[in-house]
Amino acid sequence: MEAKISASLLNADFTALGDLVRRLEQAGVDMLHIDVMDGNFVPNISLGFPIIQSLKKFTALPLDVHLMIDRPHRYIERFAEAGADRLGFHYEAGSDSGEVIRQIRKLGVKPSITVCPSTPVHVLYDHLENVSQVLIMTVQPGYGGQAFMQPMLSKVEKLREERARRGLQFEIQVDGGLDSETALLAKRAGADILVVGSALINAEDLSAFIGTLRA
Ligand code: DX5
Ligand code: ZN
Repeated sequence: MEAKISASLLNADFTALGDLVRRLEQAGVDMLHIDVMDGNFVPNISLGFPIIQSLKKFTALPLDVHLMIDRPHRYIERFAEAGADRLGFHYEAGSDSGEVIRQIRKLGVKPSITVCPSTPVHVLYDHLENVSQVLIMTVQPGYGGQAFMQPMLSKVEKLREERARRGLQFEIQVDGGLDSETALLAKRAGADILVVGSALINAEDLSAFIGTLRA
């Protein structure tokens, strides 16, 4: 089955975000990956509600919002209102994960849960029947353009086995350091959705690059 592509905007030129989104639409990406960073959970600050609200009005592409923020339970409602279609938070972020998942579902948004490289994937097993997506980070959260951490793919394989064993439906998303080579490894391990940032934004020909990622 072909992998879906979620285009990360973190390293975009934000003075030309609209042009990039139109090009990504034409290139056939499946969704936009929006990295929200609060300078607490990760040592970086990116963007918030105004950009998400503008994107919601501007494109029909689903907004796949990745929250790298402390105690995300405080802001779930506002990200849903801003237009998130998928809303992911970190297991390590200091909220009750079960409670955050329930909050997201109640708002009619697809819940996604994420783990940092140093967190074992089994901590998520109690949540798997309640999420639409699990995001496995293959870089330390906080920056685009980092090197792919291949050992993280064992978490993808474990998740795929656990999903099959329990007959569950969630999608497995891999995020960080993906290009045409590492995307292949991620798909082989079981990734259903590939988050691609800098490799995509720097690609000469977006459609051709998307084609290689999917193949
Ligand atoms: C990092 C973000 C990723 C990142 C992906 O904290 O969660 O989505 O922007 O960008 P690349 O593809 O450049 O690693
Ligand atoms: Zn991300």
